[in-house]
Amino acid sequence: MTVPCQFIVNGSIVSGRFAPMRRLLDVLRGECGLIATKEGCGEGECGSCAVLLDGALVTSCLVPVAEVHGREVTTLEGLPADDPLFAAFMATGGTQCGICTPGMI
Ligand code: FES
Repeated sequence: MTVPCQFIVNGSIVSGRFAPMRRLLDVLRGECGLIATKEGCGEGECGSCAVLLDGALVTSCLVPVAEVHGREVTTLEGLPADDPLFAAFMATGGTQCGICTPGMI
């Protein structure tokens, strides 16, 4: 079973039919091709998959895509290149291996 779902990701409309419990993380990386959002634990603990949902931080591995209908998602790719968070990470050596860096930013 799939349900219609439409939402905005980084200013672009995403529209399709999805299994309602499919994870937002998988839709972002799959259908949307936004691979900055990573899967670490898959259990809502590590933050590698963090995105903004209507401006609030969520772990996208725990968000069913059906809950995103009519809402707005921002991933790392949606932040402006001059966002001060990028400079702060570089200035402080905030990156480690890199897999969770998009979620931390
Ligand atoms: S993958 Fe670890 S919190 Fe989502």
